[in-house]
Amino acid sequence: MSSQPPLGFHSLREEVTGELPVEGRIPDWLSGSLVRNGPGAFELGDEAVDHWFDGLAMLHQFTFDDGVTYRNRFLRTEAYEAARDGEFDGGFATGETTLRERLKAFVLDDPYDNANVIAERIGDRYLALTETPRWVEFDPATLETRGHVQYDGSEPAGRLACAHMNRDPATGEMVNFETAFGRSSEYHVYSMASPTERDHVGSVAVDEPAYMHSFALTPNYVVLTEFPFVVDPMDFLRPGKQGPFVDNYEWRPERGTRFLVLERDTGELVAQPRTEPFFGFHHANAFEDDDDLVIDLETVPDAASIDHLYLDALRAGDLDAFGGRLERFRVHLGTADAAVDRRTIYDGTALPTVSPARWCREHRYVYAQGTDQPVTEWPRSVTKIDTVSGSARTFAAAGDHFSEPIFVPRPDGTAEDDGVVLTVALDDDAGRSVLVVLDGDSFSELARAPLPHAVPFDFHGRFFAELA
Ligand code: CO
Repeated sequence: MSSQPPLGFHSLREEVTGELPVEGRIPDWLSGSLVRNGPGAFELGDEAVDHWFDGLAMLHQFTFDDGVTYRNRFLRTEAYEAARDGEFDGGFATGETTLRERLKAFVLDDPYDNANVIAERIGDRYLALTETPRWVEFDPATLETRGHVQYDGSEPAGRLACAHMNRDPATGEMVNFETAFGRSSEYHVYSMASPTERDHVGSVAVDEPAYMHSFALTPNYVVLTEFPFVVDPMDFLRPGKQGPFVDNYEWRPERGTRFLVLERDTGELVAQPRTEPFFGFHHANAFEDDDDLVIDLETVPDAASIDHLYLDALRAGDLDAFGGRLERFRVHLGTADAAVDRRTIYDGTALPTVSPARWCREHRYVYAQGTDQPVTEWPRSVTKIDTVSGSARTFAAAGDHFSEPIFVPRPDGTAEDDGVVLTVALDDDAGRSVLVVLDGDSFSELARAPLPHAVPFDFHGRFFAELA
């Protein structure tokens, strides 16, 4: 590609550490670090990737402690080293000349380690995650890469891991699932107190496993929302099978979407109601309401959105299927067939989040990037959505495009929205990004801190209060 890619889909090569100038006032109580993860570069050496999901993992850390210190660093992964040496190996969807080796590299022999989706703390270790069970540990003080962490114990494990683990704030456990492919495929749900010790929660046998980017957790249940975007495991594993990882999946709307409800205590599959076909990447939150399970999920009509996230399409401004709709699903566990109700909360969101103080319990507010419907541009705002009234507050100053908003609760606050929202805006004219601190209640700007460079469009962040 000879022409300059648009800002946001550019490659950032520099790594910096430094204090950011702050305009406005950051609340004194805000202490800790926001760590964001996403693609930092789409080209390195002579190699380029094809899909937004395949950019090389870069961490960005904003530490609040009497001001804001910013640092960014690539993960030094095998994918990074290969790209630097001109041997980029493919991943989620990249690969024009791919052979079976690429697919195998993703899930089989030596799983792909370009962990660019999110950063999490499990026990006392900080890990960058993607959709393989091969996690990359980093030093939270310097963002230096420490090495791989991969479970090798005796509990059931799979080859495809969910990147969006769920933390149960009541117990501190991390819950996740992995997919094992084979003649009999299974979803294995487990919990962890540390990255190397796991407890098996339960497993579900499945004929054709689905692609599920996230799932829902409540105090008593794990819910896998099984979209009809599935793979034939035997076809997938056949020798000579070609193509990038995600091309092996097929949209099969006749299957509908199935909610697999596992009881955490017993591991039993207690309900599996089916509803209309739809697809989605992100669950915002889930909770129990008497005999109902309430699941807030961002949906799109089908899995075409994955094709729309190829870089040439994105760089050409083809964002048609990017924006989703925040919907509330209610699974009536008390009825014989566990009937499912569905209603739209808000149309035009991407990357929805809730206060971490509300994970697994009832929430009122959802934060998200705001997208037009139909989507013509990268999200140009962030929104605070009231799930009760359906109304929303929008913030669009400080930049042209916005990252996923992250709510940080005030430590001794009681109202759900007592806290701040952190987002990173990209200012096209200035050619750089700006950290923005919004008041959680009014959604108005409290402070902004310009970065020395423009951050490529990224995925997810976590706030770690202990990293001050
Ligand atoms: Co995600």
